[in-house]
Amino acid sequence: MPEPLDIAAANGRLGILTPGMGAVASTAYAGVIAARKGLAAPIGSLTQMAHIRLGRRAEGRNPKIREFVPLAELDDLVFGGWDPISANALEAARTAGVLEERDLAPISSELEGVVAMPAVFDQRWVKRLDGVRVKSGETLFDLAEQLVADIEQFRTENACDRLVMVWCGSTEAYQEPSAVHQSVESFEAGLRNNDENIAPSQLYAYAALVSGVPFANGAPNLASDIPCMAELAERNGVPYTGKDFKTGQTLMKTILAPGFKARMLGMRGWYSTNILGNRDGEVLDDPENFKTKEVSKLGVLDTILQPEVYPELYGNIDHVVRINYYPPRGDNKEGWDNIDIFGWMGYPMQIKVDFLCRDSILAAPIVLDLALFLDLAQRAGQSGNQEWLSFYWKSPQTDGTTPAEHDIFIQQTKLKNTLREWMGEEPVTHSEAG
Ligand SMILES: NC(=O)c1ccc[n+]([C@@H]2O[C@H](COP(=O)([O-])OP(=O)(O)OC[C@H]3O[C@@H](n4cnc5c(N)ncnc54)[C@H](O)[C@@H]3O)[C@@H](O)[C@H]2O)c1
Repeated sequence: MPEPLDIAAANGRLGILTPGMGAVASTAYAGVIAARKGLAAPIGSLTQMAHIRLGRRAEGRNPKIREFVPLAELDDLVFGGWDPISANALEAARTAGVLEERDLAPISSELEGVVAMPAVFDQRWVKRLDGVRVKSGETLFDLAEQLVADIEQFRTENACDRLVMVWCGSTEAYQEPSAVHQSVESFEAGLRNNDENIAPSQLYAYAALVSGVPFANGAPNLASDIPCMAELAERNGVPYTGKDFKTGQTLMKTILAPGFKARMLGMRGWYSTNILGNRDGEVLDDPENFKTKEVSKLGVLDTILQPEVYPELYGNIDHVVRINYYPPRGDNKEGWDNIDIFGWMGYPMQIKVDFLCRDSILAAPIVLDLALFLDLAQRAGQSGNQEWLSFYWKSPQTDGTTPAEHDIFIQQTKLKNTLREWMGEEPVTHSEAG
């Protein structure tokens, strides 16, 4: 048996701070508030609903994850955030149009009470949005200090014992890491010189890690996946994780592809296209912002199918991803996939998937789980990149020595085995049934 970790109890209040209070964030807050009033079940959340098998199957030990590991209770959560447009979470939820008025009405005062703090925002990174409630400062360093002050003020005013931050802001324009991102020293110099390679999301990540607050990056842009953040997280003993919530089409891809591979069926192409009409769709309509998303979405098939191991099955795949902004759909995205596979003697077959999904309904439980698991990780004394949370990501961050794991079933095993190990239970290496 592994030695259990000494994990501090989840006493007191946990504040969940989201830079970005749009569709995903407001839906996440609303679902938690509704769940604690008994108005809705937290469907899609592992921390609230999933069981975990312990020991041998015959032992019949199968508690809920939340009964097995010490997680914060929903009643102990408080929400806060920053947004350059939304004034509060109720307004954000109404603008997003994800939840119906009948679901918002019984929780409207709580949502209205989550007032957005003015954001660190720069239109260079999100051309399609006009920020109105935006901080100003001489240097980026001043802006980072204002975020640190916001964090401390939120902590005090809401009597929080612990905080976590989950980036739910818009996807920023595509960027490769540059010299300024290589160390804490170069990053801090860049903050003072207003280096144009520093994006707003990186200021939030920096402010969180400096304040000892775990950070998760829900979007595909660079935020915590740069060397300076790894260094800062290690220095301050803070866990972080990323990136890009795995929902919709990529979720389907990482469910289906492992099945084709398990049956040794070949693949010639995978064409994915989406229509969506929310603010996220509008932002992604700009080619620079779409590029960030495209890179994230294209990455998943290679590690699942291993073309280098199976060149005759997966060595020649055309993988195409398109997103089209189509306002009538709002948040109710439609994603079509055409998958060209081949079988015995090379005979071709086609699979069509038409997923009428609700993006934020799929993303909201991820926000909750990440917040609770990152808080657990911090109480368990963990710091740096939390690879065991790759289950939640389109582009899981790695330590750079191994490629990211995308197979959702392997990711699930890794997540649950990490919890087993921390609690001094044997890993389960085969069926996750139960
Ligand atoms: N919904 C999903 O399934 C899903 C999946 C993966 C990733 N994401 C990502 O999650 C993010 C949020 O998605 P959404 O549907 O809620 O989008 P949204 O457009 O409804 O909300 C994003 C909010 O972020 C705000 N914002 C932009 N820049 C900001 C800044 N610098 N500081 C603070 N706030 C800022 C915007 O004003 C907006 O209100 C997007 O980046 C999206 O790509 C969403």
